[in-house]
Amino acid sequence: MIPADFYRGRRLRTSLALREMVRENAVTANDLIMPYFVVETADEDFQKEISSMPGQYQLSLKQLEKRVGEAVANGLKACILFGIPAEKDEVGSGAYDDKGIVQQAIRLLKDRWPKLIVIADTCLCEYTSHGHCGLVKNDYVQNDPTLNLLARAAVAQAKAGADMVAPSDMMDGRVAAIREALDEAGFINTPIMSYAVKYASAFYGPFREAAESSPQFGDRKTYQMDPPNSREAMREAVADLEEGADILMVKPGMPYLDIVRQVRDNFDTPVAVYQVSGEYSQIKAAALNGWIDEMAVVMESLVAFKRAGADLILTYFTEDVLKVLK
Ligand code: PBG
Repeated sequence: MIPADFYRGRRLRTSLALREMVRENAVTANDLIMPYFVVETADEDFQKEISSMPGQYQLSLKQLEKRVGEAVANGLKACILFGIPAEKDEVGSGAYDDKGIVQQAIRLLKDRWPKLIVIADTCLCEYTSHGHCGLVKNDYVQNDPTLNLLARAAVAQAKAGADMVAPSDMMDGRVAAIREALDEAGFINTPIMSYAVKYASAFYGPFREAAESSPQFGDRKTYQMDPPNSREAMREAVADLEEGADILMVKPGMPYLDIVRQVRDNFDTPVAVYQVSGEYSQIKAAALNGWIDEMAVVMESLVAFKRAGADLILTYFTEDVLKVLK
């Protein structure tokens, strides 16, 4: 016999209206941050699809403006910019040049859409000839000598009008260096969204095609975190908070939901998560094969981030999701 008082979980699942009433988490346009790749080029109409990320493009300034315009019309609130300079050098000059491509893009977007939150990824790897996130000496990425350059990049971005800077290099002490430089330059109200917990992940593969930022030798394992570790993630988060980070990011996303949850439970700052290029490509590839329902899988993956405790989500699906939410 079935006991009369057993739990009938199905009662609240009988209709969409009921399911929506008792839903615990939701993704909204306020949560989403769209990454864009902007290229320094004389060809105004330049637009090149990234072969490993179908639907994502390297864009000239003009094409960026067009694309952002469409997204803003669909409710885009925030974007993050990555730059591909015309020329790279050993010290990543394009990252902190006032006329660097990201600085130009920030000026353009803030001029056109003052209310759009424009975030600048702060790193050197897209600008260095060797593709590493810091200065290299004897095949080793130098920590302390890199800090000053990152700080200069953040100030150049803030000067151009960036609403927020997001250091993604994983050098120790960079949040403190950036905070001090921003404050000295008068940008006391420019928040730092720190890629505090960033793993040395194979899921970044397609991004490196997109940003043309593959390391020319070695890998990023001496500065990005070792994937098997989670206690270390808490140490990284504490360090960045003490140095002045305003928002903590975990990256990648789906394979690291446990880390998102731990960061959420241990800290009261906003938490961001980055659904990285390889996660995008996996979903896209399966969808293009007709093996999964793309938008259903996307929405499920994004709400999983919210359920794990994330406030903000950086995802290449932002433009598509905005259309669904609208
Ligand atoms: C730059 C940076 C990377 C990503 C964001 N910022 C690449 C890397 O660390 O190699 C990866 C984003 C993605 O894969 O979508 N340091």
